[in-house]
Amino acid sequence: MFNQDQEISDKFHPTESIVVYPGDCLDLLQSIPDETLQLVVTSPPYNIGKEYEKKLNLESYIQQQAEVITECVRALSPAGSICWQVGNYVDKGAIIPLDTVLYPVLSNLGLKMRNRIIWHFEHGLHCSKRFSGRYETIIWFTKTEDYIFNLDPVRVPQKYPGKKHFKGPKAGQYSSNPLGKNPGDLWVIPNVKSNHVEKTEHPCQFPVELIERLVLSMTNEGDWVFDPFLGTGTTIIAALRHGRRGAGAEILPKYIELAHQRIQQELAGTLRTRPMGKPVYDPFEAGNSLTVAPWYQQENEQMTLLEDRSPYESDAHEDH
Ligand SMILES: C[S@@+](CC[C@H](N)C(=O)[O-])C[C@H]1O[C@@H](n2cnc3c(N)ncnc32)[C@H](O)[C@@H]1O
Repeated sequence: MFNQDQEISDKFHPTESIVVYPGDCLDLLQSIPDETLQLVVTSPPYNIGKEYEKKLNLESYIQQQAEVITECVRALSPAGSICWQVGNYVDKGAIIPLDTVLYPVLSNLGLKMRNRIIWHFEHGLHCSKRFSGRYETIIWFTKTEDYIFNLDPVRVPQKYPGKKHFKGPKAGQYSSNPLGKNPGDLWVIPNVKSNHVEKTEHPCQFPVELIERLVLSMTNEGDWVFDPFLGTGTTIIAALRHGRRGAGAEILPKYIELAHQRIQQELAGTLRTRPMGKPVYDPFEAGNSLTVAPWYQQENEQMTLLEDRSPYESDAHEDH
């Protein structure tokens, strides 16, 4: 559907297919007609003092988010979905899960929550006064009861695909769906840290595969997918990859530039990404030598020596 020569527009117009707006998301939203967007998916600033955010008190932060969410709801199609991906706000060591404080904002706008997806990953800061955070959430809301949800394109392999009905009229037939099973609401997808193939200088990029699953299940081809806090353009990339249109806003020039580069690479078919559905790397299965701790190795060798020596030692004791 899209080719290398496709233009990236810096303004929204319904006849465009790719929009990267260099500025505040509220300004871009104002130019988007009512009921245009099929999916809004974003990871907003978490108010934890990153370079692109001014740390606000929690009430001001929620107020600011509410303004953006309200505009997104206006621009959302009746069959549309909003997915807000958030972690924790940390206040003097105490955590406040942002989904809990944003839930009332979305539900007071009349949206219905469909899932609270736990996104589990294995890399991040090591905490010393609490357990290290290894998940964030995606809260998924729809505008009406009549929303798009395509399960088949995002099914995953069953654990026991060869299982058969053992009684009843279907006895002997395979019991599972040949297209795979529902992926559930706990998603194990590596986050984009230093060794990830998609890593750029942005501190908190979405992995493309995370957004692909949302795009495939919540939109149809040609639909608009929108990200008010676009960062490096991941949402647009996932949308274009599956024949959808993509739009978003970003305030920092270096990320706008990165978004342009990555989208162009996607159009040219040269963007390297982690494939959807690829199993998470298991260092033990891969035979990675670093999985054996050197101190255990030494200890084990000593233990073996001690075990070998023990009968002689007891003999020696008897001798005395
Ligand atoms: C958490 S990051 C999103 C990263 C993105 N998901 C990606 O895959 O690269 C939030 C982004 O929002 C941008 N931002 C912050 N306030 C904004 C605003 N008012 N309008 C548009 N972008 C904004 C920041 O510069 C930052 O790049």
